[in-house]
Amino acid sequence: MTVKKLNRGVALVGVGMSHFGAFPEKTSRDLFVEAFQDLLAGGDKGFDPAKIEALYVGNYSSDLFEGQGHTAPIMADWIGQTPKPATRVEDACASGGVALRQGILAIASGLYDVVLVGGVEKMTNLPIARVTDTLATAADVLYEIPAGFTFPGFYAAMATAYFAKYGATADSLLAVGIKNHRNGALNEKAQFNISIADLMAQKKAKAAQKDRPIPTWETEFDFMRDNKANPQIAYPLRLFDCSPVTDGAAVALLVSADIAKQFTDTPLYIVGTGQASDAALHDRVTATALSAATNAAQQAYAMAGISAADIDVAEVHDCFTIAEIIATEDLGFFAPGEGFKAAEAGITARDGKRPINTSGGLKAKGHPVGASGVGQVVEIWKQLRGEAGERQVAGQLTHGLTHNVGGTGQTAVVHIFEKR
Ligand code: COA
Repeated sequence: MTVKKLNRGVALVGVGMSHFGAFPEKTSRDLFVEAFQDLLAGGDKGFDPAKIEALYVGNYSSDLFEGQGHTAPIMADWIGQTPKPATRVEDACASGGVALRQGILAIASGLYDVVLVGGVEKMTNLPIARVTDTLATAADVLYEIPAGFTFPGFYAAMATAYFAKYGATADSLLAVGIKNHRNGALNEKAQFNISIADLMAQKKAKAAQKDRPIPTWETEFDFMRDNKANPQIAYPLRLFDCSPVTDGAAVALLVSADIAKQFTDTPLYIVGTGQASDAALHDRVTATALSAATNAAQQAYAMAGISAADIDVAEVHDCFTIAEIIATEDLGFFAPGEGFKAAEAGITARDGKRPINTSGGLKAKGHPVGASGVGQVVEIWKQLRGEAGERQVAGQLTHGLTHNVGGTGQTAVVHIFEKR
């Protein structure tokens, strides 16, 4: 593979994020403003927004979710950034990650020195059936949707294929959900800011209060295997195997590396970026790996001059629990068929050898689809700078990775961040 390099260095010098969740009173504009204000509040050296030269905004479908197209200039306006160029980037659930890449390329080209990258989605306005239909437009509507697939259905098919090939079971998936909820419990901006253990205690207390029979679950797995507490959505995926429907926004401030220290003493340098595409799921040779993700990761590792073994912490696209297991294999953290064993053994836990989704991931932090890729960057920023509070991974962290997927893997984008 020819190793591609950026024309000049690009650094991340600030991030901001709204709360993720269901906010009936907020529009995507409100959420974007909230994320931008968070960026301004967090600036190490104070930051003058007048320095921003251009915006790239990831958004999947404000058209269908809110009846509002042409999102980017509206976001620019609401944060006082017109008349600067504002471009919407759409690649399904990878919109945020691809917007980040566009911002990087714009700086590396020399055209701009300071770029604001954002992502935003307001999903909870619609009833769930319409949310499902809207998300389904990210699939191949000629072949896949007429066959009856929904997104939970696609990933359920990947899960059963993975089980058949490697011997994993539904319990392997539950281990991922339990871990990500434990992490989300330590993230005050997460949609599900609660561990499964605490959720069980809460539900038991409620039952006692209402004089109803108290559930007999003893372990988190008891709860997760209970059809009432954790119903099947698309076999073998249960409710707690699915990312939720979420409102949220996130932003990241990029600058050319030579001026990074004007913004913060601790910038992160973007040393690798990779992106790839693939045929729709029905047309692939395998359903147990995403070649676009492997491709994007190889590009990013080659550009960074490092390998999977050098990554200290990663945020991967766990839209469904099986997606996290497959991602950890596509990214080279584990060999094919070994990812589920690593999840079961706690290797991907916060205190494991390979911490994955310390933010709670899309599963617990939430998945406002166009914002998720930028939300991942927020966590890597905090972890590498030692600012992740109770969920901080111990030890010296040098490299962080984000992995953002569109649809069932027709788009994948991977970024590598370095602390120097
Ligand atoms: N995980 C855990 N709990 C969830 C949840 C999730 N993903 N989604 C909803 N809940 C909880 C709610 O908090 C609520 O709990 P409560 O009764 O204690 O208050 C309960 O489940 C019912 O919530 P509701 O909003 O009515 O759920 P729903 O049936 O409308 O939606 C799914 C559930 C799984 C269908 C929906 O979350 C979904 O479609 N997820 C996948 C989204 C997706 O495909 N994204 C793109 C990926 S590529």
